[in-house]
Amino acid sequence: MKSICVSLLLGASSVVLAASSVAEAPESTLLPSSSAIAAAQATAKAISPVSNVQGKSFQRFYQVWLENTDYSAAAGDPNQIALSKLGITLTNYWAVTHPSEPNYVASVAGDYFGMDNDDFHAIPSNISTVVDLLDTKGISWAEYQEGAPYAGFQGFNYSNQKTFANNYVRKHNPLIIFQSVTSNATRISQIKNFTSLASDVAANTLPQWAFITPNMTNDGHDTNVTFASKWESSAIGALINNTSFMNGTLLLLTFDEDETYTQQNKVFSILIGGPDVIPSSLVGTTDNTFYDHYSTISSVAVNWGLPSLGRWDCNANVFAVVANKTGYTNQNVSTTSLYNNQSYPGPLSDTSYIPVWPVPNTSAKCASGQGVLPAVVKTWGNQTQTYNYTSVVPSASNGTSTSSSPAASSSKAGASTYEVSGALAVLAGFAAMLV
Ligand SMILES: *[C@@H]1O[C@H](CO)[C@@H](O)[C@H](O)[C@H]1NC(C)=O
Ligand SMILES: *[C@@H]1O[C@H](CO)[C@@H](O)[C@H](O)[C@H]1NC(C)=O
Ligand SMILES: *[C@@H]1O[C@H](CO)[C@@H](O)[C@H](O)[C@H]1NC(C)=O
Ligand SMILES: *[C@@H]1O[C@H](CO)[C@@H](O)[C@H](O)[C@H]1NC(C)=O
Ligand SMILES: *[C@@H]1O[C@H](CO)[C@@H](O)[C@H](O)[C@H]1NC(C)=O
Ligand SMILES: *[C@@H]1O[C@H](CO)[C@@H](O)[C@H](O)[C@H]1NC(C)=O
Ligand SMILES: *[C@@H]1O[C@H](CO)[C@@H](O)[C@H](O)[C@H]1NC(C)=O
Ligand SMILES: *[C@@H]1O[C@H](CO)[C@@H](O)[C@H](O)[C@H]1NC(C)=O
Ligand SMILES: *[C@@H]1O[C@H](CO)[C@@H](O)[C@H](O)[C@H]1NC(C)=O
Ligand SMILES: *[C@@H]1O[C@H](CO)[C@@H](O)[C@H](O)[C@H]1NC(C)=O
Ligand SMILES: *[C@@H]1O[C@H](CO)[C@@H](O)[C@H](O)[C@H]1NC(C)=O
Ligand SMILES: *[C@@H]1O[C@H](CO)[C@@H](O)[C@H](O)[C@H]1NC(C)=O
Repeated sequence: MKSICVSLLLGASSVVLAASSVAEAPESTLLPSSSAIAAAQATAKAISPVSNVQGKSFQRFYQVWLENTDYSAAAGDPNQIALSKLGITLTNYWAVTHPSEPNYVASVAGDYFGMDNDDFHAIPSNISTVVDLLDTKGISWAEYQEGAPYAGFQGFNYSNQKTFANNYVRKHNPLIIFQSVTSNATRISQIKNFTSLASDVAANTLPQWAFITPNMTNDGHDTNVTFASKWESSAIGALINNTSFMNGTLLLLTFDEDETYTQQNKVFSILIGGPDVIPSSLVGTTDNTFYDHYSTISSVAVNWGLPSLGRWDCNANVFAVVANKTGYTNQNVSTTSLYNNQSYPGPLSDTSYIPVWPVPNTSAKCASGQGVLPAVVKTWGNQTQTYNYTSVVPSASNGTSTSSSPAASSSKAGASTYEVSGALAVLAGFAAMLV
């Protein structure tokens, strides 16, 4: 165990974040002063690179995440029902664990590294994300984080400056949590606030991949599904009504996790597409294929022929709009005893911490057939030290909850890494690096 200091540059001022133990900084909270924020606000640059890389199914993939809502509650909400009539309702789409932050992290990194909390994390730079995959073909990307004071803000939160109610929070901003992103000035300039979405629409400078996070009021976190769905049908509904925005676009409307932790962690999700993406015959239908947050990465990889991260994204089921166009066969996943309501042990865990970063499967072909990102292979391809997880699996597990993705665990991706068998979750033969 060693101590590290992570220095984060905030515009003009530099904030030093003291971390306890290991290779990451989970327990710290970065709260820059308002003067530092104001200084950075004056100088931070938001940029909008564009690209036009032809995809097999869609030319743009945007996802909008609301918060903490049981499937049944969303399925009963009038605005969600109205939105579902504009696209395909995914009736078997799963979150991967609880609470919020690991789900956001999973959606860009293909793993949550045992995270079971909403702490301040700055994940080491040798962990790659979906933007490294997009970069292999120069596919433009951005995040739109409502309420962030400026592009690239790395603080723990930015509250409403009049009422000090929750507004922007780091835990809902997946890419800012990765040092592979924050160490790159270009990248942080593409992590913008929601006002930039309107300006990018107006200037016709939209990226081909985007992650949209409404603030803590609009995403339902501090309100409820009624409020959040009203926001979505208005703010996102306006984009859906914009035919030039929707041309070539696939839009995923989803939730980070369900609210009732004892239930199966399935979330109500809708895919809405331009007429060239989702044929009119499928508008208003349902799709019962098993998907989870990792499907957002595999679908993008298959669409654009990108490599994989070699983690749970590797063989995650691919949205049918893409799978059908490419002849990809999705796996049947039994969800009878699947809960996804508890995180497996890992280096970002508070309750079942182990000092081991999971090693991706660097020799897999993965859904797109393009194998694993060369940088991932280079960093992780020779990590073979085994760690015996058996002794650290939480004893309370009733065996139904710790598998993060059966789609992955039943086959190649991470399969060598996590194995869930029988009634008790047994994670053994774990090829991993011992820090
Ligand atoms: C990844 O980075 C962490 C933190 O710097 C380090 O402890 C670990 O050895 C690295 N792992 C590999 C495989 O490079
Ligand atoms: C959004 O970001 C831009 C530039 O990145 C900044 O000028 C603006 O003040 C921010 N908006 C809000 C509401 O904080
Ligand atoms: C972050 O939230 C805390 C309370 O939750 C608040 O006191 C603080 O002012 C917020 N920080 C910023 C920069 O808004
Ligand atoms: C959230 O954003 C809306 C605009 O979409 C704004 O009116 C509201 O004040 C924000 N919430 C907070 C707590 O700042
Ligand atoms: C920085 O990020 C940009 C955009 O993602 C990428 O094109 C560039 O290669 C990155 N630079 C480095 C040194 O990683
Ligand atoms: C939902 O949240 C809104 C805004 O906080 C509130 O006005 C409304 O009463 C809530 N509805 C329910 C059913 O709790
Ligand atoms: C989108 O168009 C529909 C149908 O014309 C309309 O009912 C709805 O109000 C529009 N939504 C927004 C947010 O403009
Ligand atoms: C949609 O975009 C394509 C190029 O990607 C263009 O050829 C086509 O004309 C556009 N259609 C509409 C209705 O804007
Ligand atoms: C396992 O836990 C879930 C909720 O966490 C519960 O609904 C289920 O009944 C439990 N199964 C067994 C066999 O105890
Ligand atoms: C994909 O193909 C299946 C089987 O032919 C069909 O039932 C389904 O509607 C198709 N879905 C999409 C989104 O094209
Ligand atoms: C293992 O990976 C490290 C980090 O990229 C690299 O420097 C080293 O040469 C690799 N070793 C072997 C045997 O491939
Ligand atoms: C792993 O640990 C468990 C419990 O401590 C032990 O029973 C088992 O034999 C170990 N497995 C290996 C392969 O060492």
